[in-house]
Amino acid sequence: MSDSPTRARCALVTGASSGIGAATARLLAENGYRVAILARRADRLTQLAAELAGGPARGHLILTCDLRDPDAIATAFERLAREFGALDLLVNNAGMGYRARVDEIEPELLKRVFETNVLGLLLACRGALPSLRRSSRPVVVNIASVVGRRGIPGQSAYAASKAAVVSIGESLRVEWAHLGIAVCTLNPGLTATGFFEAQPNPSRLPDPDFAQSTGADHVARHVLALDRSPRPEVSLRTKWRLLAVLSVLAPRLADRLLVGRLGWKSPTTH
Ligand SMILES: NC(=O)c1ccc[n+]([C@@H]2O[C@H](COP(=O)([O-])OP(=O)(O)OC[C@H]3O[C@@H](n4cnc5c(N)ncnc54)[C@H](OP(=O)(O)O)[C@@H]3O)[C@@H](O)[C@H]2O)c1
Repeated sequence: MSDSPTRARCALVTGASSGIGAATARLLAENGYRVAILARRADRLTQLAAELAGGPARGHLILTCDLRDPDAIATAFERLAREFGALDLLVNNAGMGYRARVDEIEPELLKRVFETNVLGLLLACRGALPSLRRSSRPVVVNIASVVGRRGIPGQSAYAASKAAVVSIGESLRVEWAHLGIAVCTLNPGLTATGFFEAQPNPSRLPDPDFAQSTGADHVARHVLALDRSPRPEVSLRTKWRLLAVLSVLAPRLADRLLVGRLGWKSPTTH
């Protein structure tokens, strides 16, 4: 379907009620996008929508939805299709973290991590497909993580969920190529958001070093850049990119570097 020259580019950002998602929604709206914002916290979304309304584009949309609920996802995407028609950019950003050693993992939390980070993302891709197909230049940006390319101790569940996001990107890139849908994976490193406060954290793992973090706006700028010029995968930290390569070529050396960086103590010393 061809777009009219005056039609604003339409985007959906999941997990837009805080952090990277909110920053991305703001940046897109500032750049003239019509934005649908999706998350569970309706009060946060209402507040953000009021902010976005001050920008150049009109007709932003609030989708209050729990990505762990397949029926709620279907309803949200039906509404999106009715209101937007075509969807030009899907940003699959919603996610939760879980820092716990394997012996501390609680099955219910493990389930929540995979339902949110993996199943919710896949169902969002499925729900968005009809609207993406109506766009003349559809783009999907999946927010994974540098730990999706190289697992780290104490975050096996979270890292595995993000490795799944990387893998979904690889599959869809090829599966949807004939539809002209560009699928990009964006791997942020440590980013200063409420992410670590939001996650259940029963462990005695070292706290993240926020002195080494980037801001949510930095990640948002990369999302916008990927929409303008899609690339298969972008990892935001050079040292993590190198570590991922080293993990394939010299895994023991990569492990030693990782232990040095994180100050990880083996469980026998706890
Ligand atoms: N911060 C980092 O260091 C970092 C590093 C690499 C990758 N990431 C990834 O970046 C993404 C955004 O994280 P952030 O740092 O911006 O953290 P955040 O501020 O905690 O944002 C997470 C967002 O996901 C939404 N969300 C969580 N569970 C949901 C559910 N079941 N249904 C719908 N929405 C849900 C939350 O909204 P509600 O609670 O309102 O539903 C919130 O808007 C995540 O995928 C995260 O894994 C973060």
